[in-house]
Amino acid sequence: MLHEVSLVLVGVVILAYGLEFLFSHLDDPREPRRATPTVPVIGHILGFLRGGFDYYGTTSQKTDAEIYTIGILNFKVYITHATRLTQMIQRSKTLSFRPFLQVSNKVVTDETHALFNGELLENFSAVSKETLTPGPRLDVQNLRMGHELLTEIDDMLKGSDVQLLEWAKHAIVQATGAGLYGVQHPFRDPEIENALWTWEDRRPRLDVGFDPLNRGYNARAKVFEAFRKYFSNMPDDASPIIRERQKILAQNGICEEDRYKMQAILSTAAYPNTVPTLFWTVYEIYSRPELLEAVRQEIANKAVRRSDDGFILDLAALQTECHILLSAYQETQRTRHSQVAFRMVLEDTLLDGQYLLKKGNVLHIPAKPTHMDTSIWGPQAAVFDPYRFVPAGAGEEARERTKIVPSSFLPWGRPPYMCPARQFASTEILMTMALLALRVDLTPANGEGWGKPAVRSGMEVPTIPRPKEDMRLRVTTRKEGAGRWAVAIGVGKTRISLASG
Ligand code: HEM
Repeated sequence: MLHEVSLVLVGVVILAYGLEFLFSHLDDPREPRRATPTVPVIGHILGFLRGGFDYYGTTSQKTDAEIYTIGILNFKVYITHATRLTQMIQRSKTLSFRPFLQVSNKVVTDETHALFNGELLENFSAVSKETLTPGPRLDVQNLRMGHELLTEIDDMLKGSDVQLLEWAKHAIVQATGAGLYGVQHPFRDPEIENALWTWEDRRPRLDVGFDPLNRGYNARAKVFEAFRKYFSNMPDDASPIIRERQKILAQNGICEEDRYKMQAILSTAAYPNTVPTLFWTVYEIYSRPELLEAVRQEIANKAVRRSDDGFILDLAALQTECHILLSAYQETQRTRHSQVAFRMVLEDTLLDGQYLLKKGNVLHIPAKPTHMDTSIWGPQAAVFDPYRFVPAGAGEEARERTKIVPSSFLPWGRPPYMCPARQFASTEILMTMALLALRVDLTPANGEGWGKPAVRSGMEVPTIPRPKEDMRLRVTTRKEGAGRWAVAIGVGKTRISLASG
């Protein structure tokens, strides 16, 4: 029996090596060379299951090639982060992110799936960009978000402690929801808010069609139903992005049922990224007492006015004058962002006249190597420097540094496919941080200090991985910030000077 088992094992090993050899020799010699997996056929799958996209850190270290292939039989992904090539990719018409924005025909009808393509898809993206551009319309949206954040922080202060991630999830869903959909948004109902997170947690399973107990599908159906009700009587304070997207879908023949599903899908872009970004920004600032003090001084001096019975946070001043806060937030993004940009190869493409990328395969461009590149960020690239992004001439914290070019800072994606909501989401995080910093003292409830919370590994959907475990924090009202708080749009420019542009 032992002998037979050994024979089968030897057979399997020979077959696996044989398949690996065969498939790599079927590649066109001009295609980027394959990275050899530690175990044939399944090695890369195991690497992904263990490390998610961080696995590319391991594969990249094993090769000097500026572009290489991860191949599992005839499924191939090309990987590069070489600036020289990414600049060419950026200009290419045949390497596109658009196919990843299409909605699966398992979610919408075949007709909608076919219609939501080409010009309509382009226009839909263009409308998102236009409606989220800084200006009076976005100010109103930001203000609705600010009012909701004030309530969430009042609620936090009613308790003696808080689970930071849980709080961030709830506060961001409520505030972003008010900004996007109006004060009476679908996630006011706690059941729908919970369904959103169940859907989100199970999204990787739904993407591969594996949800045996239907928990993810049921949660998604609940969110869709809430959006059906919402759109049957869209409130007057729905934001321009929601109104314009609805209009463009209707004008282009998308049926009603698919319109509200496609609007609901915006939630999967809006919340999952903002929540961990806020979590880690709170952690990075509050765990450094000197930095926290500098942030508090800066906001209090530049962006807060006294009112008769308390304080007013001035959004325009917060967005444009609080350089230390903005810098610490962007440094959090730089050091923690671990997303990989996706491009579909639409046609056989000869990149740089030498690398053949074959139609139908996918190209992945990890951001982490760029964010950790010492030739861009200096010898301290791996170190968290909260003042790194403070512009020269903006006070004593500004230091002489290499100029940061927008294409080196990638938390919002790579041009030409960048997050259209980066001003909106950044305003939300800066506003939450400002209100927390001035009103609340937060200290770890375990009495053991902030430590270094572990991050979730594996196939994370958000651009910044969530913490493995939540953090319980003790909450105390700061006496300097006690009183009634309000937010106001303020005067002057309302565009945040993000390093990404
Ligand atoms: C910190 C928060 C956020 C981060 C880090 C973030 C990041 C990104 C990134 C990297 C992309 C590019 C696509 C990709 O490579 O996957 C993207 C696209 C997008 N994001 Fe965000 N995002 C955030 C918040 C939001 C919010 C609040 C909204 C909702 C208003 C939003 C709406 C979108 C949309 C609609 C797209 C697709 C753009 C297109 O049509 O080309 N994002 N986001």
